[in-house]
Amino acid sequence: SDPLRLGIAGLGTVGVGVVRIIRQKAALLEARTGRKIVISAVSARSQKDRGVPLDDYAWEDDPVKLATRDDVDVFVELMGGADGPAKDATEAALKAGKDVVTANKAMLAEHGQELALLAEGKGRVLRFEAAVAGGIPVIKALTEGLAGNDITRVMGVMNGSCNYILTRMENANLTYQEAFDEADGLGYLEADPELDVGGIDAAHKLALLASISFGTQVKFDGVQLEGIGCVSIEDIHQAADMGYKIKLLGTAQMTGRGLVQSMTPCLVPSTSPLGQLEGGTNMVVLEGDHVGQIVLRGAGAGEGPTASAVLSDIIDIARGLRLPTFGQPADTLKTAPSANSGTP
Ligand code: HSE
Repeated sequence: SDPLRLGIAGLGTVGVGVVRIIRQKAALLEARTGRKIVISAVSARSQKDRGVPLDDYAWEDDPVKLATRDDVDVFVELMGGADGPAKDATEAALKAGKDVVTANKAMLAEHGQELALLAEGKGRVLRFEAAVAGGIPVIKALTEGLAGNDITRVMGVMNGSCNYILTRMENANLTYQEAFDEADGLGYLEADPELDVGGIDAAHKLALLASISFGTQVKFDGVQLEGIGCVSIEDIHQAADMGYKIKLLGTAQMTGRGLVQSMTPCLVPSTSPLGQLEGGTNMVVLEGDHVGQIVLRGAGAGEGPTASAVLSDIIDIARGLRLPTFGQPADTLKTAPSANSGTP
């Protein structure tokens, strides 16, 4: 059958990782999908050397032009940012009849339903496995493996940068500021570190998982949110004395009062799987009425893990698997009464 032709916008860590895998794994990808997966064109802010050959691909400065090229079947959006070029190009791609794969949690958390409605209205798919917990296939776990369950609760540590900072405070007796500076120096923090330490990045991910889990509209502003900036080394010592660790823990649950979503520093028993999660790792705990509890653990960021998740969506599309963005058609997502606002 015809090759599946990609246009990739954004050649940062993740974009370069995707290009590298597609170059290295051409035969494997064809064997697994029955189609060749090829890159037609790429786009990024500059044409600097990124350590991966790009000469075989057309270059576009403008991501909207890339997204709407005739030789692109799937627009792969790896630029980031809730609004601006990422959203413009995603909309343009869907309107032009392209499928879209994105790693953009901020865009999906803010505009997910609108974009999903646009995609489904056009008969296109919009997939975002890489947007939540990097290499952990948590969206596929929810929308495929656990699709026969009512999901009762989703929990997890979904920001590796925060977990790194908290782990370093605990293990090396660093103050919050010392651990923050170390993480920053190692390049572990987003360009705007507040996205990480303010819990915003993790809350974006939680809101997306809650939508898929409970069939509700994405409600990022319904997440009760508190970052890790308030956690002191004294808090960590006190928690340790009682047998606990402090983790930036997200929880989403449907209750009698409505959807409860929170992303806050929490005490977890030191001996529990969450308590033992160290460094930049993520862990997602899913609970379904038939399956019981499932624990997924792995790298939540980085070139290989995030590119692995992007590839999984591209492979689904190459195989002809056309799942709705949030696991059910976007126009069937319920408005969730948010239980957080107004509660003491
Ligand atoms: N800074 C984020 C994290 C990157 O550490 O989880 C992935 O969103």
